[in-house]
Amino acid sequence: MKIGISDSGYGGLSVFRNISARLPEYDYIYLGDNARTPYGNRSFETIFHFSKQCIDQLFARNCKLIVIACNTASAKALRNLQQITLPAEYPDRKILGIIRPSVEALTDLLPTSPHSEIAIWATQGTVDSLSYPLELAKLAPDLHLIQQACPMLVPLVEAGEHDGAGLDYFIEKYWRQTLEKSPDRKIDVLLLACTHYPLLYAKIRSVVPHSVKIIEQGDLVATRLADYLQRHPEVETVLSQKQNRRFLTTDQTERFDQLAKVFLGKSVLSERIEI
Ligand code: DGL
Repeated sequence: MKIGISDSGYGGLSVFRNISARLPEYDYIYLGDNARTPYGNRSFETIFHFSKQCIDQLFARNCKLIVIACNTASAKALRNLQQITLPAEYPDRKILGIIRPSVEALTDLLPTSPHSEIAIWATQGTVDSLSYPLELAKLAPDLHLIQQACPMLVPLVEAGEHDGAGLDYFIEKYWRQTLEKSPDRKIDVLLLACTHYPLLYAKIRSVVPHSVKIIEQGDLVATRLADYLQRHPEVETVLSQKQNRRFLTTDQTERFDQLAKVFLGKSVLSERIEI
């Protein structure tokens, strides 16, 4: 059986990149729902419906475990998929999200000062779901979290503008807005809580002062997945280890292959599927 990685489009490749580097031996199927991306501004119902269709595709292709490598889908669909869909339809399969592991890793990294503040940048959907503050409150109730929606970043990356000057304007604007939410301007950590933002790391780093630690999710999620597999031999022992990788997209393969190179750092040959 295989490990499935599901995302609204290309962005999850930034997470898959770390997962496959950390755990290269397994077989993976990546599914990007490019035909319907971005998920960022869509309703709970729509994102659940799309995410359910994606996991059906991956389970039908013999995935034992699926990582939903999309913050928006993890925020808006994961709970129902885990609590309703799995027991009813796939009782022997597993689905993991990206928010819980990020928050766990975040609390490990945090400074201990009571005045520390953490900020996250995410899609409007992730921010509105309040998933990050709710998860963080369970693990570190005293920490103050600033949420900043960055609705223009995904569309600009999707349009191939990840190097463009237009992005500088929006990154500066979102950082200014983030600081306005922090009265004493003492932000210690900024979590990039959207799959597209690692691509903008250099640009974000050039705007955000070096006293602020910027955290990307790929490595955190890969480390937590390795840990999960170690703690769950009933999952790990059924996973095939032939280093196969398949890339599925719901839209044009040519475009997927082109942008996959940017997110993954190497060429892929994707297959188109109908959902
Ligand atoms: N993958 C999404 C996320 O991490 C970003 C792209 C989208 O809005 O679909 O939130």
